[in-house]
Formats: sequence, C-alpha cells, structure tokens
Amino acid sequence: MADIDERRRKFLSRLAALLGTLAVFEAGWIGATFLGRRRSSTSSDKMRAAHVAGPVERFEPGSVTAFRDGHFYLVRLEDGGFLALHRKCTHLGCTVPWNADEQRFTCPCHASAFDMRGEVLSAPATRPLEQFAVRIENGNVVVNTDKLIRG
Ligand code: FES
Repeated sequence: MADIDERRRKFLSRLAALLGTLAVFEAGWIGATFLGRRRSSTSSDKMRAAHVAGPVERFEPGSVTAFRDGHFYLVRLEDGGFLALHRKCTHLGCTVPWNADEQRFTCPCHASAFDMRGEVLSAPATRPLEQFAVRIENGNVVVNTDKLIRG
C-alpha cells in the first residue's frame, strides 16, 4: 500500500513539473508573439504615416481621388487647397464611396451623405468625415495617415 502511495506521489510530482514547464513555455511563446506583433505593427505604422499621393498638378481642382491603401480620399478644392478625408462613415464606420455624379459621399449602410469637404448633408451621421493632415513637400502632396483629425 505504501509502495502504491509512493508511486502515485512520484507520478503526481512529475506531472506537476511537466505542466509547470509547459506553462512557462506557453507564457514565453505568448510574450514573444505579442512583442513580435507590436514590433511589426509599429514599423508598418511608420511606413503608413507619410503617404505620398503624387505631384500637386496631378490633381485637378474640384476632384476627388481615392487612395484605398491609405484609407482616404484626396480632395482638391476649387480654390486649389487639399483635404484628405478618411473613408470611414462617422455614423457606424462603413466605407463611404464618392459619387461623382451627385458630387457627394453617400454611405451604403444607412444613407448618410457628406459633401466634398466631408460636411454632413444628411443623417444619421452627425459629425463630418474625419481628416488626415496634408502637406506639400517638394511639389508632392503628402498625407500623414498616422493620426486622424476630427472634422
Ligand atoms: S454607417 Fe454610414 S450611415 Fe450608418
């Protein structure tokens, strides 16, 4: 009887050691995965941060150009200025397409509409489209896509 108890005790002890070792490896794997993701997202964020849209003269006044990879529309206003509008509807986040015929952004989800400047034309959205900062650098339009500006 004492022999069985001793063998049971040794078995349980080894099982506990094995489970402890597995827990340590799993915690290390989870930590490495988390750090790897953080590193890769940080570097891709930096790459995304400055999006060169193209030379200024490429964009006609009164035009809207979609940049799918940057998730924005570059708007060249009639006065020559630029806006970079985020493609997400401010109601519930659907992607908002530009309707050139109607000269407005119309959300396919609940029909909110926004003008060329991103201002609300019709509800349910109550806030204008968000924007990214735009600058002209060496004759190119550069959009900073790492930070949204509330409209
Ligand atoms: S998500 Fe655009 S109107 Fe609702």
